[in-house]
Amino acid sequence: MATKTTENTTPETSQTGTTGKKLAVDNATVDKNDMKNSSLHKFFVSALKDIYFAENAIIEALTKMEEAATTEELKEAFEDHQLQTKKHVSRLEKVFKLIDEKPEKKECEAIKGIIKEGEEIIKSTQEGSMTRDAALIIAAQKVEHYEIATYGGLAQLAITMGHDKVADLLEKTLQEEEDTDYNLTEIAETFINFDAEQED
Ligand SMILES: [Fe+2]
Ligand SMILES: [Fe+2]
Repeated sequence: MATKTTENTTPETSQTGTTGKKLAVDNATVDKNDMKNSSLHKFFVSALKDIYFAENAIIEALTKMEEAATTEELKEAFEDHQLQTKKHVSRLEKVFKLIDEKPEKKECEAIKGIIKEGEEIIKSTQEGSMTRDAALIIAAQKVEHYEIATYGGLAQLAITMGHDKVADLLEKTLQEEEDTDYNLTEIAETFINFDAEQED
């Protein structure tokens, strides 16, 4: 934006125009550094590293959840979302590139805790039971809600900071997380919860 303002005020033919142009380049550099040094940008990058770690951890967790699930419907839902999650990782890599940052993982205790809860559900429910699927759906939805909160907030921040392409990518992932959450509710309500209730 700073470049635009200076371009408008720089007469190209005059001597001052040349000086103006030089200044414009300097200003652009300063602006970029200012942007990178701002607290909000630092927070934004740190939150991206957090969700980058989370998405990678979720890919692994979904393999275990798919293996543990009782019904084909839930196994398929986990398998589909694992493929989507791999896309989420590559979208995040694009986001890092767009803001000229390196994709790095920042250990996220929150997602580690949510994933651990899922592992405990597998241990504490009977193999082949519908109760296990009902519980696994809730565990998976906790993961989705963590992602929805993160992507929703970061997409809004990206818009505010003028990173429109970044916002588009984050919103695409947000939509997929919301669809997954909705599908899981559908699976639970169609038959899994009812069948689980019939179990001893
Ligand atoms: Fe995701
Ligand atoms: Fe997800």
